[in-house]
Amino acid sequence: MNKDIILKETKSFVKDKLYKEGSGHDWFHIKRVYNLATYICEKEGGDEFIIKMTSLLHDIDDWKFSNNNNTTENFLKSLHVDEESISKIINITTTMSYKGGVANSDQNSLEGKIVQDADRLDAMGAIGIARAFTYGGSKNRLMYDPHIKPKNFQNLDEVKNLDNHTINHFYEKLLKLKDLINTDTAKQIAEERHRFMEIYLDEFYYEWNFNKEK
Ligand code: ADP
Ligand code: NI
Repeated sequence: MNKDIILKETKSFVKDKLYKEGSGHDWFHIKRVYNLATYICEKEGGDEFIIKMTSLLHDIDDWKFSNNNNTTENFLKSLHVDEESISKIINITTTMSYKGGVANSDQNSLEGKIVQDADRLDAMGAIGIARAFTYGGSKNRLMYDPHIKPKNFQNLDEVKNLDNHTINHFYEKLLKLKDLINTDTAKQIAEERHRFMEIYLDEFYYEWNFNKEK
């Protein structure tokens, strides 16, 4: 199978699986990550096929909603993708997630760095804010509770189970992403998105406290 056909098959596979996924990993997230990663790849280099395939597949085996973590590998084998490409793709998808900041997700390949940057950029800015509140809503969380102060987590179970408000997520993750970006191209985009989140938070607290009794 040639690479264009493999990419086409992969798009329809992922679209089918994630179209209406409700915790922020829906098909449109995948498409945005794919577009961002392709843009970064144009500027920074790297293997375009691996970058595109990994962007499409990066959330399929996600620890938060998948109970079977070799779906990606089985799918790639069914398309007769060569072993070397399969191992490159799986290596990245299994290691790139931030997991609430408790996992080491450093990437050693340029392809991994690029897809990770694209995924992180989509958690920032206007889209990142919308995704955070969507995620919080899917867990029935308050958007904000001034009595619960920002907190970091120590382990994965805590990340999964903690009942926290969504504004906290800015401090545990979103505002830290800018300094974790790998490539110069993504850093430029991250600066703008970071600034937007800071402005958003200022306005949020301003409105929250409007005419508050002393
Ligand atoms: P990754 O797999 O890259 O670590 P996640 O799966 O943790 O990313 O997050 C997917 C989306 O959901 C992101 O936009 C992220 O900011 C958001 N999200 C994750 N955890 C929370 C949370 N506790 N509160 C609000 N948003 C969250
Ligand atoms: Ni993602």
